[in-house]
Amino acid sequence: MVRAGIYVTVFAPDKDSLAVRADALWGLLTGTGAGALDARAARARGVQGPLLRATRPLGRNDAPRYTTYKMYAETVGNAWAAIVRSPGTASGVLIGRAEGDGALVHLNIADRAFKNRLIDVFGGSGQGKSFFVQKFMLPVLLRNSWATAVDTVGGYETLCAIAGGQTIQLGGPRTAAINIWDGPRATEEELAARVRFVVRAHEVLLAESGRPITGRIRSVVGQGVRAVYTACRRGETPTERRLVDWLEEQATHQEDHEDKRLFKDVAADLYPYARDGEHAALVDRPTSFGFDTRLLAFHIDPKELRPDTPIYAFVMFAMTDIADRRDALAQAWGRRAGRGTVQHLLAIDEGWNILRHEAGQDWVAGIGRTGRHSGMVPMFVSQKLSDLTSNRAAAAYFDQTSLHFIFNMHDTNDESGVDPRQWIAGKLRLTDGEAARIGTLAGKEAADKKRLEYAQMFMIRTTKTASRPVRGVVNVPSSPEEAWLFASDPDDKEYRARMVRAVAADPEHPTGEEVYQAVCLLAEGATPAEVDAARQALPPGAAASDDIDERDTATAGTGGAPWIAAR
Ligand SMILES: Nc1ncnc2c1ncn2[C@@H]1O[C@H](COP(=O)(O)OP(=O)(O)OP(=O)(O)O)[C@@H](O)[C@H]1O
Ligand SMILES: [Mg+2]
Repeated sequence: MVRAGIYVTVFAPDKDSLAVRADALWGLLTGTGAGALDARAARARGVQGPLLRATRPLGRNDAPRYTTYKMYAETVGNAWAAIVRSPGTASGVLIGRAEGDGALVHLNIADRAFKNRLIDVFGGSGQGKSFFVQKFMLPVLLRNSWATAVDTVGGYETLCAIAGGQTIQLGGPRTAAINIWDGPRATEEELAARVRFVVRAHEVLLAESGRPITGRIRSVVGQGVRAVYTACRRGETPTERRLVDWLEEQATHQEDHEDKRLFKDVAADLYPYARDGEHAALVDRPTSFGFDTRLLAFHIDPKELRPDTPIYAFVMFAMTDIADRRDALAQAWGRRAGRGTVQHLLAIDEGWNILRHEAGQDWVAGIGRTGRHSGMVPMFVSQKLSDLTSNRAAAAYFDQTSLHFIFNMHDTNDESGVDPRQWIAGKLRLTDGEAARIGTLAGKEAADKKRLEYAQMFMIRTTKTASRPVRGVVNVPSSPEEAWLFASDPDDKEYRARMVRAVAADPEHPTGEEVYQAVCLLAEGATPAEVDAARQALPPGAAASDDIDERDTATAGTGGAPWIAAR
């Protein structure tokens, strides 16, 4: 004989309909009519923990399996492991609550169920993509992971300030420099890999000059790159101008007119990137930043580096190398600290640009293959589905991806003429209702009407076992602190900057603690003017930060990273 227990939670919009629904259910369970179960029924009242325990033998709940799942939902019915309705994983970072029953949604990207760790984040402008990425990134960083971000809005500065990260500006008169030549080449193998990478990076630069990259051009560039490394073997810095010098010199030695032309043309195509060329400050200097900061955010100035230019494609391709080298550093750091694989989030706004060239496609395919064995977790963030529909490699990435976060896409007129919702629904085997839901996702305003209480997204994760992806709408809430930390609207950014200036001892160089303090003050509703006034009232010589908020100074260390101290 088998005895089974059924735990049912009844939801209703109000008390009266709850009574009606509960009675109907009671009849179904205990009645004798058609379809009734003839069960012994009991009605439970109480909070989840004790209620769940009451359903266990002897009222105990010490089986680890159930303790793990116990806190998953607010209702005893949903607390049962098998019927949890969260699209998230069993543990990990808390990212939000499932719409409807409010089950907590966790995400652990190392979860064994995932085929790989490829992630994409889609949605219209201002729907909460960057906010979500940062909200996820911060606790991941706190768990000793690494993160690299690339964006065009400059949204990561505050996160960098409080988490001991560094922001790197790319483009414009004050651009940082990326020297693709300076990677590891101590061994023959490393040198060969570096030559390959530098040649491919030049293919990216040259591809958009209009001249097809022939085998001959590839071989000329390859010779040149090797020649530059040979010339620099005593420790000189290999740079772009050395390649251009070499090409020009070779041109003078060529007897054949066509060969002469070829060397000259390739040199000329590289002029914008060398010596005093337009992009020389970015390309033709020693790399101006370190790779070993746990959080590094690149801010591409979209006015200076436009997405449809070779230099933009080059920067994106250089990111693959920076990410690989940072990943190697992260893993070495993890080994020293006696940890397993160190996770390394790589969040790239419009990351599809990496896939524009074969070189980038190979790199992404490599990450897909190494899957869970590498620490790298690429998150491609995008507004436009046309990036996917117009690029086979990008579409292939989307097909492989284990985790999709889709924010509202109400605009059905994508540039490609494809309805983005239908396209996604087809790819991910969503129902018509779910496809329509992508167009109605919306955040909820907080009671003070000044900010969003949460943003909404559709989370879809494919697993190795389930035939259809696990999915559901997730509300991504923000605390007042998070709202000020991750806000990207220009007005919000300006207001936050004013508060930082008001708090900082040196307004030009605020410390991480001061930035965090400013965020906390804003979250409490303080205004920059109040902080300024409080500072004026201080006796001369007293440090402003002592009086502003003592709780926050308690978290401060000596460096710029109160939460994530360098180890
Ligand atoms: N989960 C959230 N909770 C509260 N507020 C949010 C949330 N997500 C976004 N917001 C608000 O919406 C603003 C825009 O969000 P976000 O910068 O993430 O947009 P986006 O999707 O990245 O847009 P774009 O494609 O233009 O970069 C944020 O600055 C913030 O004020
Ligand atoms: Mg954004």
